Amino acid sequence: MSHYLEWSRAYSHRLNTADAAPLQARASEMGLRLERELTQGLLPFLSMPYRASLESGLPPVLERMRPCRHMLVLGIGGSALGARAVQKAFAPGQDRPGHTGSSLWIADNVCAEEFEALLAALHPAETAVVCISKSGGTIETLAQYFLVRQWLQDALGEGWREHMTVVTDAVSGYLRQEASSYGLASLEVPDHLGGRYSVLSAVGLLPAAFLGIDWRALLDGAAHAAQPLVEKPRRVGEHPSYALACWARALEIQDYSELILFCYVPRWAAFGPWFAQLWAESLGKDGQGILPVSATGVTDQHSVNQMFLDGRRNKGCIFLTGRRQQPGRAFGQDLPEKWAWLRGKPLGALLEAEALGTRMALCMSGVPLVHLDMEDTGPRSAGAFMLLLEAATLFTGWLMEVNPLDQPAVELGKRLANARLGAPGYEREQTDLDSFMAVPLQEQVF
Ligand code: PA5
Repeated sequence: MSHYLEWSRAYSHRLNTADAAPLQARASEMGLRLERELTQGLLPFLSMPYRASLESGLPPVLERMRPCRHMLVLGIGGSALGARAVQKAFAPGQDRPGHTGSSLWIADNVCAEEFEALLAALHPAETAVVCISKSGGTIETLAQYFLVRQWLQDALGEGWREHMTVVTDAVSGYLRQEASSYGLASLEVPDHLGGRYSVLSAVGLLPAAFLGIDWRALLDGAAHAAQPLVEKPRRVGEHPSYALACWARALEIQDYSELILFCYVPRWAAFGPWFAQLWAESLGKDGQGILPVSATGVTDQHSVNQMFLDGRRNKGCIFLTGRRQQPGRAFGQDLPEKWAWLRGKPLGALLEAEALGTRMALCMSGVPLVHLDMEDTGPRSAGAFMLLLEAATLFTGWLMEVNPLDQPAVELGKRLANARLGAPGYEREQTDLDSFMAVPLQEQVF
């Protein structure tokens, strides 16, 4: 199966191929680094050394959940967004009228109202709860875990353990301790597999499997796309993910500050927020980084597209389309004369035409654009798509000289929140909080 990156409009407006040339020239240096980090086991999202244990460990966990109609995932960030993207793409039935099959609910916020509504509508006996946290210590996820554990215990007594699964580090973290203390079913988040690169591990694949999605096909697609990088890392310069990284880095050097992912596979729309998190947490560092902007065709043609086309000339675009999407039903021959040109055409023709129209309009408006065209829109292609973007993110970070696998800046807000809640060990943050709160307010009433 082949997918295509189309480059004819990528270097346009004030972006020239010459801007990327010095970055492409770094391919051999990057290849050596890739080879080294693969050997050290630092890039499991590419090499997937965990695949065999996942394939043997996941089915029994799934089997235990068989009596449950609902899965409630507790997780946030990389522990939630991938699962949601895969759910929306491949098990969209839950959002449609009359749904009766399995349902997945992802609690990735601390909205008390939403949480209460969810727990009020779910029945513990029918619900498999999956608490997902690589670190096993994320406060939002643990807070939900404590409350849901109580909710299960109140209804099921000791039987709560049968309804709780954790996906976390193999050894460390509070959730791992919980799994050991209570004999909970568990799956591992492999070493060095950070949240936003973990969708193709148990983190994203257990929820996918619960929904009956072909999770092995997702892995196959990713493995296929990763194969040249894993087998011939020194030839990274030939891989499309590296070309994408050079282009994105060149955009930034030329003062472009926003990168649109414009998704014209409507069912894949939730890959937009997944990508935004991947890109932003990986690359917003040291005063650098291009802001990811996720948009969905055709919906956002009637929303943010005006800004893309005629706002600041600071945007590049990855324009995503998929071949062989269902054409859907055709317009009747009795359409009014004014609309006669639609007669006999399927609804899908509209998507195709609008994608072309918008892509052209962006190009004509001076937006450097890479067209990413998927052979089809099945799980195998989605695996390849995710892998491509993960690898491109990694290489962009390397070209920027930042670490694309950490996210140190987000720790400050977490530490301050902990101090606010009275957690011990945050004395300095408490002092900072006191100073912050001491500034006289300048409230304006409206
Ligand atoms: O991508 C990341 O690393 C983060 O967004 C994490 O996924 C998020 O902070 C949740 O972390 P954890 O899985 O440790 O609970």
